[in-house]
Amino acid sequence: MTYKITYKKSNIELEYCSEKHKNLSILDIAFDHDLFLKAGCRSGYCGTCQYILISGDVKYFYDPPPTAADKGSILICSCYPTSDIVIDA
Ligand code: FES
Repeated sequence: MTYKITYKKSNIELEYCSEKHKNLSILDIAFDHDLFLKAGCRSGYCGTCQYILISGDVKYFYDPPPTAADKGSILICSCYPTSDIVIDA
């Protein structure tokens, strides 16, 4: 499956292909395209990569992640899209 990730504040749309990008997070996809969003540990602990999920659905690699995101937000280092998504990044 292929989904569109819209990084709204950056005004960038990228494609996530579940086969090609297996094990890559929403943050990894951004970094791979030189979109350097705020991040720290990149493993779900520090909460630095928290962004509001405006629309769509994601799944965490580890559920629940080590640190819980605020309601309506996600830790983009630790999840991948399961639909087209828009995030406030
Ligand atoms: S970068 Fe630390 S939780 Fe995502």
